[in-house]
Amino acid sequence: MKTSLLVFPTSLKGITLYNNCSSSCCGHNKDNEVTLHKLPYAYDALEPYIDAETVSIHHDKHHATYVNNFNNAISGFPELKGEKICTILKELDKVPVEIRTAVRNQGGGVFNHNFYWKILDKDNKGALPSGELAQSIDKHFKSFSQFQEQLSKVAISVFGSGWAWLTLCKNGSLQIESTPNQDTPLSAGRLPLLTIDVWEHAYYLKYQNRRVDYVKGIWNLFNWDFISERYSRLIKSI
Ligand SMILES: [Fe+2]
Repeated sequence: MKTSLLVFPTSLKGITLYNNCSSSCCGHNKDNEVTLHKLPYAYDALEPYIDAETVSIHHDKHHATYVNNFNNAISGFPELKGEKICTILKELDKVPVEIRTAVRNQGGGVFNHNFYWKILDKDNKGALPSGELAQSIDKHFKSFSQFQEQLSKVAISVFGSGWAWLTLCKNGSLQIESTPNQDTPLSAGRLPLLTIDVWEHAYYLKYQNRRVDYVKGIWNLFNWDFISERYSRLIKSI
């Protein structure tokens, strides 16, 4: 028997938070299917740190496959169509059990990649966190350089495929963490602020086995204006 309709309590504080972030992380077409977000820059915009061929394959093949697989997974479940991916990932235990693993993996792949492209920037030019985020990083990690060192260490240490994150907890604190496969911090109740995709497809063409060099290079690409603004918006909501 099919599971009853999902009802997401949008009045809950946590859900409201996720809806705040959804405009940049989720998206549906007129048939209520999730669509592949356009890259916010050209394939070669992240050169020399991430090469154009990697960005092209990563977005047009890998990211696109997650979008297609997610839509296929939920195709027989109209109660999920049109629901924001971030809301679904936050409430995975309410997803019908027969598609829960697919939604976790494929939906996570959609959200994580939407977010990854969003927090990178072709025009970083040595920018750093600003405003409240800069102050919070200093408070939690003593300095930007120590934060950078800790997050890099976590990213380099992910065993196999996964992601490294800076997240915002419900108590307002910052946390560095990693997730395996396509798992997302949303499912653990935390809000992503920054991420590093450490699946080999994110760097292997240019760096081969040298993940450490890819992680070192990506610090030149973070869109700190977007990340700092996102932090300031989210911290007011909790
Ligand atoms: Fe990826």
